[in-house]
Amino acid sequence: MANPPTRPAFSFLLLLSSLFFSPTRSASFGVNYGRIADNLPPPPKVVELLRTNSIANVRLFDTDAGVLSALANSGISVLVSLPNELLSLAASSQSFTDAWVQANVSKYYPSTRIVSVAVGNEVFADPHNTTDYLVPAMRNVHVSLTKYNLSENITVSSPLAFSALQSSYPTSSGAFRADLVELVIKPMLDFLRQTSSSLMVNVYPFFAYTANSDKISLSYALFQENPGVVDSGNGLRYLSLFDAQVDAVYAALSALQYDDIKITVTETGWPSKGDANEVGAGIQNAAAYNGNLVRRVLSGKGTPLRPKNTLDVYMFALFNEDQKPGPTSERNYGLFYPDESRVYEMPLGAPEATSHVGARGGSTWCVANGDVGEERLQRALDFACGEGGADCRPIEKGATCYEPNTVVAHATYAFNSYYQRNARAAGTCYFGGAAYLVTHPPNYGKCEY
Ligand SMILES: *[C@@H]1O[C@H](CO)[C@@H](O)[C@H](O)[C@H]1NC(C)=O
Ligand SMILES: *[C@@H]1O[C@H](CO)[C@@H](O)[C@H](O)[C@H]1NC(C)=O
Ligand SMILES: *[C@@H]1O[C@H](CO)[C@@H](O)[C@H](O)[C@H]1NC(C)=O
Ligand SMILES: *[C@@H]1O[C@H](CO)[C@@H](O)[C@H](O)[C@H]1NC(C)=O
Repeated sequence: MANPPTRPAFSFLLLLSSLFFSPTRSASFGVNYGRIADNLPPPPKVVELLRTNSIANVRLFDTDAGVLSALANSGISVLVSLPNELLSLAASSQSFTDAWVQANVSKYYPSTRIVSVAVGNEVFADPHNTTDYLVPAMRNVHVSLTKYNLSENITVSSPLAFSALQSSYPTSSGAFRADLVELVIKPMLDFLRQTSSSLMVNVYPFFAYTANSDKISLSYALFQENPGVVDSGNGLRYLSLFDAQVDAVYAALSALQYDDIKITVTETGWPSKGDANEVGAGIQNAAAYNGNLVRRVLSGKGTPLRPKNTLDVYMFALFNEDQKPGPTSERNYGLFYPDESRVYEMPLGAPEATSHVGARGGSTWCVANGDVGEERLQRALDFACGEGGADCRPIEKGATCYEPNTVVAHATYAFNSYYQRNARAAGTCYFGGAAYLVTHPPNYGKCEY
């Protein structure tokens, strides 16, 4: 970790904020608020932390009363969970799910904006073998939500572990485990289709990388520049392992003719610390993965197999959780330490810029994201200079910022002008994913920012 990154540093939390509350947002981003720790701030402080960072979506692993009450009137959308331990009861008793929905969902709604109920988590990997209960439990929860008039507003799904796939490489060969297909996958997908819900999946490129670091390139796993991996089945080129894993699930859906079902990534992340054998764990890689993940979502692009589906992603996790069992990595996925300081400041670049990012004038700039293509950049540029009210005189022919005469340079000038004129408010550096924030001023020609 000797060398600071040479590309412009950026604050992913500000990137998040530019996405979270953007009126034009199409993709969505959230965090997992896990609480397997004995040193976390009280829920009202956590909600404040979420709001300060404009984090508008949160996933809970339970329905804790203190947390749900603290989230009331916060504007934050909440995914709540019915834990695996309750699956057999929920499957066998409608009156149980009625009472559960009443006491754990309806009671808080709508002041707490609950949007989904996750029934169980990684159920096929649960050592208590609760698989048989899953779909009946999902159905019962949905029926109970209907009784409380909530089924129009609250969806039901269940996060799968990536190990629900029997094959994921090459991506196009993606297939669900054969023993699960008739037993539970198809009934669950029928349910998701009937209720217009999405398939929830937990996706960790870190696991694949750490187990195969001799075969998988780190830059491919971290969304950094890399030659990509061509799928031998369909010829599509993947530039990130994350995209390849998401598409392996889409391929598995296609193989069973459920092409209409959308995926929500309920967990993804990278640990900032690990044991000696956990190759790739580390603060710099975690910062790269999570920062680039945010940019990836912000790009507004779908995956090679589903270019039109924007990504819905919950990052794992809000805090490092000191009571989690298992390898060191398990306790080190957090974006924040329990004292609310950020884990990833260091590799994000100039410390003076990131430590007070957004709090001081001129410490963040909005730049164009060349990845979205000239056409989208040009549309966003036209908006910024038109009804957006950015000062675009300096990029007119002959003016200071005309050279270099490229769409990226001009859009950067216009986006940044718009962002600064709007006092760097959350959501003003988004432009449908065509823009992102950096913590160093852009550098084009003679132009001053
Ligand atoms: C509410 O949820 C908690 C945790 O999931 C559970 O223990 C409790 O039984 C639920 N309440 C009802 C009335 O079902
Ligand atoms: C779990 O339950 C399924 C379905 O009943 C069964 O096929 C499987 O053998 C069980 N697995 C274990 C480990 O008990
Ligand atoms: C649900 O809505 C219907 C029709 O609007 C209403 O009659 C009923 O009382 C509502 N039920 C609950 C539990 O709010
Ligand atoms: C719930 O959904 C219905 C139908 O889409 C909508 O009219 C209603 O406003 C929603 N309720 C809340 C509290 O968002």
